[in-house]
Order: sequence, then structure tokens, then C-alpha cells
Amino acid sequence: MNQKTPLETTFGSISPAEFFYRNRQMAGFGNSSQAVYSTIRELVENSLDSCEDAERYPDVHIRISCEESDILSVRVADNGTGVPAEYVPEAFGKILFGSKYHERQRRGTFGLGVTMAVLYGQITANSPVLIHTRSRNTSGTEYTLFIDVESNEPLIEATNLQEREYEGTTITLRIQGDLKRVQERIVEYLRLTAVSTPHSKISLDIDGSETIEFGRWSNEIPPLVLSSKPHPRAADLELLRRFMQRVGNKRLQDFLIDSFQKVGVKTSTRFLRFISFDPNQETNTLTRDDLSRISEALRKYDDFESPDPRSLSPIGKSPIIDGLNSTFNVSNIHYSIRPPSEWQGNPFIVEGAIVLSDDFARSEIPTLYRFANRVPLLYDSSEDVMTKALKRINWKRYTIGASSPAALFVHLCSTRIPYKAAGKQSIGTISEIENELLYLFKELGRRFNKGLRKEQRSVRESKKMREFARTFRNLVKFSADLADFEGIPKTSHLIQQLFEVASDE
Ligand SMILES: Nc1ncnc2c1ncn2[C@@H]1O[C@H](COP(=O)(O)OP(=O)(O)OP(=O)(O)O)[C@@H](O)[C@H]1O
Ligand SMILES: [Mg+2]
Repeated sequence: MNQKTPLETTFGSISPAEFFYRNRQMAGFGNSSQAVYSTIRELVENSLDSCEDAERYPDVHIRISCEESDILSVRVADNGTGVPAEYVPEAFGKILFGSKYHERQRRGTFGLGVTMAVLYGQITANSPVLIHTRSRNTSGTEYTLFIDVESNEPLIEATNLQEREYEGTTITLRIQGDLKRVQERIVEYLRLTAVSTPHSKISLDIDGSETIEFGRWSNEIPPLVLSSKPHPRAADLELLRRFMQRVGNKRLQDFLIDSFQKVGVKTSTRFLRFISFDPNQETNTLTRDDLSRISEALRKYDDFESPDPRSLSPIGKSPIIDGLNSTFNVSNIHYSIRPPSEWQGNPFIVEGAIVLSDDFARSEIPTLYRFANRVPLLYDSSEDVMTKALKRINWKRYTIGASSPAALFVHLCSTRIPYKAAGKQSIGTISEIENELLYLFKELGRRFNKGLRKEQRSVRESKKMREFARTFRNLVKFSADLADFEGIPKTSHLIQQLFEVASDE
């Protein structure tokens, strides 16, 4: 008989589903209001990712209905790629399911979001998730499923062919939640999502009583981001070991060229000479120590080209300005973007806009709006690297202070956002990112200051011009009277010539 020892009864491995079930606060499902917010956020994120994959204008419809006491029914429908039927059970019923080896900017990061919402729904409302999806060349499938927490496997309740009008996915789940406490946050999240994804159209319907619409503010569909291999500087020992296992035995040089971006024959030859390894050595003869040496050297070697920024999708100047102008009463706006940079082999770009508007609070430092891979971050701002960088700037130098209500919209895009926790709310302090943010903030401050001075100068100049025009008109009238001239000669073109700007006469 297979009886457990006392030690085995005390210890035992737990599945990822069980881990997150026990520690759901880590993923943003700690209490009943945050859970509603996270559910909407995770579903909307997935929808937008999938519409971007499909290269279409996203059309996302959210419906929240309050059922008995504190149970909510949440439905999110999109026009994205849909999910091929064979992947549905794992994508929605297995925690930490996702693609591992390709790097590109995406909102989805951990393979956790939607499954956490499904798990939360089944724990709190005892309800399965309903997925109705249609992918290319199919007409539609519907799945009803739970997650088996102990084994982290999907438990399919029902599946059937069910036509769907167009490609995309509709997810319906029931969760326990406090909508009232979090409704404003959800609206704010969607409003800001339409700023950072301005080619999307999002609607929110609450209890069938009111529909709020956000976007579309821009017609520019961002180009599809390229998926690239990891950069060699991102190769830790574990990644290297797994890659070798995956590709089987090879010449060491071929392995490096095939596995990593920016490594060709020349670069790999130089690198292998640098670490005194034979390019012809077979990878299955490498010891654990060899791997450790190679991985350490890959991360330190500074002769690799920078990571490929084509796997990134910054929002860009005119889309973000269109989004901001459509959302706030903007009186002044300046945009700036930094060149691509990297942290530990992961490419990133920071961009941002500084906006003057009476919609923002008057304060010594601008109000900060944070975005990561186009997702607005509304919680845990005090711990974020962006807040930290914001506080390091002397904003008074740029004439930003209590008299000018300004806000900063800052977007970090990267193939890997260094989130502090699985709830994806705040970004950790990485010195390369912090430095780029400081450069960005200073540049925006300079532009803001320059713009303000230009505006003040033009206000002064138009005042001067108005005064001159009045005096000049009086002079012309007086001269015409003296000369017995009938009527008063026109003066506007003369004033215009003098000031080289349009007269407002
Ligand atoms: N609406 C959708 N349209 C298309 N595919 C979807 C949709 N929702 C989920 N998926 C698929 O299911 C997978 C799992 O989603 P999930 O939200 O759990 O993880 P993720 O988005 O990869 O990462 P994260 O934990 O950051 O959300 C996604 O990677 C995607 O392939
Ligand atoms: Mg997701």
C-alpha cells in the first residue's frame, strides 16, 4: 500500500492554480472590488492584444449586469483573431499557459490574467466561464469550463459548434464583486485605454441602463509588431539550458546563431574567441559549468548590437495627441519620444506628452498618468519607477507649478515590463529605465517651458499690435479729415505688413 510518510503529509508540491488560488491578492484579485476591476482589465487587455494580432480596428463591448445581491455577470466581446477551438481549454482553463520563446510587446505577460478571472468566478460565484469564439476559417465554437485547481487542468463542462457572426471572442463569467466601489475606476481605465490605444472603440454597458462609449480617436492602426528571438544579453543559465534541450545537439556556434537575435557568423566567432570556446564543440558535450560561463559572458559581452526595437509599438505623436485632445480640454500639449534602449537584453522605449488643462489638479509637480505596453496603470503608483523619476525632477525650473495645471502621460513599451507583481500595476526600478524617464521628463519640461514662453510672447505681441492698430487708425482718420478726404482709407493691410502677422482689425 502507498501510504504517505508524515513528512509527505506536511509537504507536497502545489499546482500554479492552487498557488494563485491561495495568493490571489498577488494577481490583483485580493478583494471584491479590486477583483471586478481586474476581471474587466484582464479581459479587455486580451481583446485588444488579439485585435492587434488581427490588424483590425478593435471593437470591444463590455456588459456588466448585477444579479442577485453581490453577484455580477460580466461579458466582454471583441472582433479579434478568435481562439482556435483546440487551444480554448488550455488558454482559459490552465494557469500560466502561454508562448515562451518569442519576444514582442504585448499587454499579456504571464499567461495568468483570464484564468485568474475564471478561477475567481468559480470560487466566488460557483460558475464556469463561457467562451464563444470564432477563428479564421471556422464558424464558431462554444465552451463552458471550470479549472481543476489541484491539477491546474481545464474541466470541460460542455462544448459545441455554435455560429458566431464575425471573428472574435466573447467571454461571459459570473463573479462576486462590489461594482459600486470600483465603477469609477473602471470608467477611468477605459477612458485612458482609449488614449493609449486610440484606434480602438470601446463601449461599457452597465445593467442595460447606460452605455458609455470611448474612442475611436485615431485612424492609424499601429503596424504589426515583429516577434523576435531573445537577445543574447537576456540569456540566463536556465534559458540557455532549455534552448539546448529544445533544439537538440548542434555546433555551439550554430546554436548561438539560431537561438538569438543579432548573432551572426562574425559576432559569434568573435564572442567564442573572447570566451575561448571552440565554435565546433557539440552542445551536448557542454558541462553545467560551461553553460554557466557562456551565459555569464553572453550577459556581459558588450559587442552585441542592441536588441531589435521593431518588436515594440510606441503610441506615436499624432495618435496620442488625438487621444488626449479628444479626452481632455487641452490648452497646450507637447510630445517627446526617446530612442530605443535596453534593460538586460530587453528593448524598451519611453515616450510621453505633457498636457496643460484645467482638467488637472494645480500642484507643484504634474499629475502622472502611467502606461505600460499601452495599458493604463491605476493602482500602486507610489511604488512605481515613473513616480520615482517624476519626483527627482525640479519642475519649477520649467515653470511648471501650482499656477499651471499640468499632467504627464508616460508610456513605457518593452518586450518585458519589469512589473513588481503579477497584478501588473507598478513597474520596478531598473536604472536604465529610470534614466531614460529622467531624460524624457527633462525634454518635456524644456518643450513645455519653451511653448509657454512663446505663447506669452505672442500674447504680448498681439496686445502691442492691437494698440498700434488703434493709434494708427486714429492717425489715418485725423489725416483724412485734415485733407478733406471722403471716407477713411483701409489700414489693415499696412498693419499686417508691419507685423507680418494677420491683423484682427
Ligand atoms: N479575447 C481573446 N482573443 C484571443 N485570444 C485570447 C483572448 N483571451 C485570451 N486569449 C488567449 O489566451 C491566452 C491566455 O490569456 P491570459 O490572459 O491568461 O494570459 P496572457 O494574456 O498571455 O498574460 P497575462 O497574465 O498578462 O494576462 C492568451 O495568451 C491568448 O492567447
Ligand atoms: Mg491576459
